[in-house]
Amino acid sequence: MHKILVEGGRSLNGKVRVSGAKNSAVALLPAAILADSKVIIEGLPQISDVGILGDLLEEIGGTVSWKGQTIHIDPSKMVDMPLPNGKVKKLRASYYFMGAMLGRFKQAAIGLPGGCHLGPRPIDQHIKGFEALGARVTNEQGALYLRADELRGARIYLDVVSVGATINIMLAAVKAKGKTIIENAAKEPEIIDVATLLTSMGAKIKGAGTDVIRIEGCENLSGCTHTIIPDRIEAGTYTIMAAAQGEKVLIDNVIPQHLESLLAKLREMGVTIEEGDEQLLVLPSKRLKSVDIKTLVHPGFPTDLQQPFTSLLTKAEGTGLVTDTIYQARFKHIDELRRMNAQIKVEGGSAIVSGPVQLEGAKVKASDLRAGAALIVAGLMADGITEITGIEHIDRGYEQITEKLTNLGAKIWREEMSKDEVEQFQNS
Ligand code: EPU
Repeated sequence: MHKILVEGGRSLNGKVRVSGAKNSAVALLPAAILADSKVIIEGLPQISDVGILGDLLEEIGGTVSWKGQTIHIDPSKMVDMPLPNGKVKKLRASYYFMGAMLGRFKQAAIGLPGGCHLGPRPIDQHIKGFEALGARVTNEQGALYLRADELRGARIYLDVVSVGATINIMLAAVKAKGKTIIENAAKEPEIIDVATLLTSMGAKIKGAGTDVIRIEGCENLSGCTHTIIPDRIEAGTYTIMAAAQGEKVLIDNVIPQHLESLLAKLREMGVTIEEGDEQLLVLPSKRLKSVDIKTLVHPGFPTDLQQPFTSLLTKAEGTGLVTDTIYQARFKHIDELRRMNAQIKVEGGSAIVSGPVQLEGAKVKASDLRAGAALIVAGLMADGITEITGIEHIDRGYEQITEKLTNLGAKIWREEMSKDEVEQFQNS
């Protein structure tokens, strides 16, 4: 087991290249199940969630090979093998095997998903969609069993705007008979990316990226080549890091429109950011002013950047109110930031951050992926050394984060944990 150490106070300078989008990748790989010949996906991030999904595709009979960041998936010999246990429990996105296997085989048995603990994360809207398409869904000992004689297109209104449910229903509906309309659909860029892959495979999808998606089912989908979009959350995390400690940082391979809400808030704080076609240049700011943020569905402020942004607010002058309307309990990073001298109170479902304070290095624990990113942001700003455990969460979503930050001039490295530290970590 490893930990990450950060010696804070260094300025960041230079260029960082953003990887392919994790939350697209984890849907694009299962989507390949729907094709009858080879699917090639380029530009994938080398992160543990993607590796696990590749293994799961092999478990059901797919032939998977990697050439750098490109995966070749031959789904032709896949079978409808149940996956009630094992690796499916390691990550949230294994739920996309439900939609994809239901679409292809008209049945699936998938263990209920794992992933970051951000409070309750129901999948009732996914199930509502599968049932509307004609599937019978039962929960048997912690696994969902989906069975359909045939899938028929349907009009499905999502009661909650959900990225996962929108994609999962799309995966099943592309192979249903007739027309499916998803109303109150999520509009995140990752949904457009998955729809683009499915369209290249021959699916007929209109409206991805709006709140009404229309799908005309097809009998067969074929292989294709697809290039993934850049990771807006990784790009946003480096933009926040640059705002915190940057002299002049160029964020490369980014779609600035995907980050408009973050960029607006950073500018409101006093950060200067220049936008290119695929790049952001973050310039140093003398003084940061506090702002309030409220996370919302896209194009609102993304919940996945709330935690790293909270760390940045500790450096800003004034009081900032942070409210997460997507995951009301996504505040596990706050106790750890307090260990580092942050002045933050959680009251009535919001975090109130007072600043500026000089953060101090401390031993802290990442409880989930973006909490881990928040602690790295804090570590970069802190006096002294910050030791972060629980870094397997960080490695689920950030490709080569220590290397990328080292290239920008940060002092950050990994160390093997001692036996005592591992024991302490496991008991904490
Ligand atoms: N929800 C329901 N019922 C459902 C589905 C969702 O009530 O059937 C609720 C959730 O509890 C939540 C809200 O709806 O309050 C939005 O959840 P959504 O389904 O959109 O989230 P998700 O698809 O499970 C994805 C990302 C998350 C990201 C959210 C919100 C993946 C694999 N995960 O999760 O990413 O926070 O959308 O944008 O795509 C991360 O990358 O750190 C991460 C947690």
